[in-house]
Amino acid sequence: RTLKEYKNETYLDFSDPTNDKAQKKAIEEVRSNFGKEYDLYINGEFVKGDAGTFESKNPSNISETIGVFQSASKEQAFNALGKAWDAFEDWQYVSAKKRADFLFKAADVVRRRRLEINAWMISEAGKNYLEADADTCEAIDFIEYYAYEALRIDDGMDVLSETWGDHNKSFYMPIGAGVSISPWNFPFAIFVGMSVAPIAVGNTVVAKPAPDTPRMGSLLAEIFEEVGLPAGVFNFVTGGDIEVGENLAKHPDTRFISFTGSRAVGLHLNKIAAETHEDQNFLKRMVCELGGKNATVVDEDADLNSAATEIIKGAFGFQGQKCSASSRVVAHQAIYDELLEKVTEKAKALEVGNSKENYISGPVINQKAVDKIMKYIEIGKEEGRLVAGGKRAETENEGYYIEPTVFADVDENARIAQEEIFGPVTAFIKAKDTEDALRIANGVEYGLTGAYFSKDPKKIDNALRKFRVGNLYINRKCTGALVGAQPFGGFKMSGTDAKAGGRDYLKYFLEPKSATLRP
Ligand code: ALA
Repeated sequence: RTLKEYKNETYLDFSDPTNDKAQKKAIEEVRSNFGKEYDLYINGEFVKGDAGTFESKNPSNISETIGVFQSASKEQAFNALGKAWDAFEDWQYVSAKKRADFLFKAADVVRRRRLEINAWMISEAGKNYLEADADTCEAIDFIEYYAYEALRIDDGMDVLSETWGDHNKSFYMPIGAGVSISPWNFPFAIFVGMSVAPIAVGNTVVAKPAPDTPRMGSLLAEIFEEVGLPAGVFNFVTGGDIEVGENLAKHPDTRFISFTGSRAVGLHLNKIAAETHEDQNFLKRMVCELGGKNATVVDEDADLNSAATEIIKGAFGFQGQKCSASSRVVAHQAIYDELLEKVTEKAKALEVGNSKENYISGPVINQKAVDKIMKYIEIGKEEGRLVAGGKRAETENEGYYIEPTVFADVDENARIAQEEIFGPVTAFIKAKDTEDALRIANGVEYGLTGAYFSKDPKKIDNALRKFRVGNLYINRKCTGALVGAQPFGGFKMSGTDAKAGGRDYLKYFLEPKSATLRP
């Protein structure tokens, strides 16, 4: 099998009543299993936690418990890391083909359980059907892409020059056992991607899901168990961010720390990674994907209907809870009013409600998120003109609902134009001309994604060079990067730009070795 065979999984069309009905049926089945208990998965065994249990709630209806999960103690987390190192002894020498075979089988299980996985995600994270299905498809893509990539890396030795009769070769070695700490906003795709990438190239991993979405992580433990992945290669450890996450990051034996989440936690872990212990004989590898304060820039010649549609998707898809979300719109003064009116009208029309009914806008993830977003909405009322939303949304259920919110006439240096909100809030900023718009777009500490709208090839070329973001999209939304097509990661404070879903990514979990053979 070669990378040429790889293609992105296509999303289901839920406007087709057959798909809608099938998804609803899967949700009912999953709901009949709410409240069950799930274990840690260490060294191929499901075990209880030593530090108690915690519950995962449905953000669409907080009276519903998704499941009960184990709180691992620090000692259990360290034990998992020890088992991962034990497993590394063999796994590092297993052929790339054999490793890839486990992954291709795992992708097939995800395909078979796709609607069920979507249903858990709709329930545990509050995604609508399409957002959930896109997440599950992305997980399949990550598994297969990294499997194909691992085969390519194994196959393709560097072509090196011959030196006076000596033959030179160069190849990649796995680096060891490490920890993956993943977020709740792509609770399956990112958890899966961050677990699978190191494994694909011969490393072993202790994976910690976000405390808000442990069920999504436990599904991968079930899948790896089913396909018979050797014990200890993948370990699933739920529990506290400090008890499990930070302690594992600090452990002298942790070879790599792969983190996706907030800027504050990422910087903290980066510091931890830089502290060497007496008995540590390597530099820890740090891979981090952090926040964004992404802008959609709309130039004077843009198609405004299309721009407005894409801004709505980019700003309010999954309630704006994406590091890639368009939390700023920088509009040329000539079209500012017209664009604002179109976006405001569309934002007001977004219906908010329970994700199981497939409302386009669901809840945000938890009470802490509500408090943070509502605080920024209050700040926004001082800093700009509220033109849509601005309140908790009224629904039939008690959940974490917030209206899609648009602020106009925001200064480029205002807090809501500079700080990541991670919710359904976007700020309109007026630019004098194209260059001013790009200057404003670049005037934040992040550099993750951006979108630029114009019909003029010269202007597009200019934006391609000057817009300083890791993922730039022309005439479309700035979210929804596809594995293998739009390698994902950002500049500046957005992280290490490791480019998940791209050719560079697996190298973060490898070290190149050169060998010279004299005949
Ligand atoms: N990779 C996700 C996106 O592009 C965050 O939206």
